Amino acid sequence: MEFEIIRKDVMGRIGKLKTTSGTIETPTILPVINPSLMTIEPAEMAKYGAEMLITNSYIIYRNDGLRKRAIDEGLHAMLNWNGPIMTDSGSYQLFEYGDVEVKNSEIIRFQEQIGTDIAVPLDLPTPPDVDFERAESDLKETLKRLEEARMISDIPMAGPVQGSTFLDLREESAAKVGKIGFEIYPIGGVVPLMEAYRYSDLVDIIASAKKFLPQNAPVHLFGAGHPMVFGLAVLLGCDMFDSAAYAIYAKKGRYLTRYKTCRVNELQYLPCSCPICSSYSLEDIKNNKTLLCEHNLYVTFEEMRLVKQSLKEGNLWELVERRCRSHPYLLSGLFRATKYARLMETYDPATKSTFFYLGETSARRPEVLRYSDRLNRFDLCGKVLIFAGKGKVKKCIDHIDGYDHIFLMKAPFGPYPIGLKETYPIGQSEAPKDMDPVAKTVALENVLRLIEANRDFDVEFIFVYDGDLWDHPLIEKIGRFATTTEY
Ligand code: GUN
Ligand code: ZN
Repeated sequence: MEFEIIRKDVMGRIGKLKTTSGTIETPTILPVINPSLMTIEPAEMAKYGAEMLITNSYIIYRNDGLRKRAIDEGLHAMLNWNGPIMTDSGSYQLFEYGDVEVKNSEIIRFQEQIGTDIAVPLDLPTPPDVDFERAESDLKETLKRLEEARMISDIPMAGPVQGSTFLDLREESAAKVGKIGFEIYPIGGVVPLMEAYRYSDLVDIIASAKKFLPQNAPVHLFGAGHPMVFGLAVLLGCDMFDSAAYAIYAKKGRYLTRYKTCRVNELQYLPCSCPICSSYSLEDIKNNKTLLCEHNLYVTFEEMRLVKQSLKEGNLWELVERRCRSHPYLLSGLFRATKYARLMETYDPATKSTFFYLGETSARRPEVLRYSDRLNRFDLCGKVLIFAGKGKVKKCIDHIDGYDHIFLMKAPFGPYPIGLKETYPIGQSEAPKDMDPVAKTVALENVLRLIEANRDFDVEFIFVYDGDLWDHPLIEKIGRFATTTEY
C-alpha cells in the first residue's frame, strides 16, 4: 500500500493513499457504518464527501446472517460500496463491554476472508488514567497481538498505538509498532479524552506517538469525529479519522457545528446552509433524526475540506487558532501544542504565503522559534542599530551612514536586517499595531538573543525604540547591554 505525501504544513500533510479498492486523498474522515443499523446507506456516503468507510468486522462476525453474506458476497458487495473499506476488530466493544467472544487470530482471518482493504488486530484500548501497571501490561498484550496479526496475514493492516495517558508508554508503543511495520498507524484509546474535552492530553498523546512513528505512513486518530478537533489533529500530523459521532450525536438530538455541539431542540435558527438546512425547516430537522444525521455529515466533511484548503494555502496554523478560540479547552489544547513547537519546526515548510498574528499562540509558532534559533547566524561588526522607533528609520536617525548594520523590529520576531524585509516569515507577517505582551516579550527576548550571540565580538548595539509601543520590563534589561534611546 502506497502513501504519497503531496503537501505539508506544520506537521499536517495532504497525501494520496493507494488501496486495493482505489486511491483516496488524506486527511479524510471514514464514516462508521454499523452493518446492522444503516440509517444512511453506505452508497450515499460519497455525496457528503466520504472516500473511504470503516465498519466493524466483529459485529458482522457475531451475526450469523451478516457473517454468511459477508463471506459469500464479500464486504464491498454486502455494503454496496466499491471504494476502500477499513474494518475494525471489536476492540472498541472490548473497551465498552470488557469482553469479546473472538480471538485476535480469528478476527484477523475473518477480515481477510471478507476482503477488507485494511484490517485492524484486536488491540486493547486502555482508558486514560489507569495505573501504570495496567497500561503497561495491556500494551504488552497489544504488541503481542500485533505481532501475531502480522505473522498470520500480509493484507494491509493498521497497528494501533496504545499506552493510556502515559506518554513514555505512548512513545514506546509508537516505536515498537513502527518497528513491526504496518500500513496505517492509528492512535487508540483516546475517545474518553475527547468526550471529556481533554484536548491538551490528546495533544500530548498525538505528539508523543508522532515523534516515534514512521513519518511516511498515515496516522489515524481512532474515534475522532467531531469537526471541532480536525484542524488541531491535522496540524499535529493525523491523516485519518473515523467516527460514528454524526450518528450517535443525531440519535441524542445533537446538531454539530464546527465550533460546538448544539441541542437541536434549543435552536431558534439554523446556522448552516448545507442541503439539509437550506431545504428543510428547523422543525423538520428537530423531528427527523435522519435529517439531523445528514446535516452532521455535511458539516463534518465541510470542515475537513476547509482544513485541507488551509493546509494547501499554508495557513493551517491560522485556521487552528481561530477554531481553538471557540472553546477554552480547545485553546488549552493549542497552548499545549505550542510546547511541541520544536518538533513542529522540523516538519514545517520554510516558506509559506502569510503569517497572521492572531494572539499569543502566534508568538509560539514554529516559524518564530526557527527565527530565534537563527539569530546567531548574522555576521556582525562595529555599530549596530536596532530601530524600533516611530516612523521611518531614515527620517529619525541622523548619520545613518555611521552604522555598520541596521535592524528593524517586527513583533513577534524581533530584530531583522532590512535585507530580510521581503522574505518569509518577516515579509509576510502581519501583526496588530497594538501588540499584546507576549508578542513584545518574544520580540524583545530576541533583541537580547542577538546581543548575546555577538557578545564575544566587537559589536556595539544601539537600541532606538518607541516608548509607548515598546513599553515593557525587558527594555531595562536591554539597557544593560546596549545604548537605549527612546524616540
Ligand atoms: N475505536 C476507537 N478507539 C479504538 C481503539 O483504541 N482501538 C480500536 N481497534 N478501535 C477503536
Ligand atoms: Zn446543515
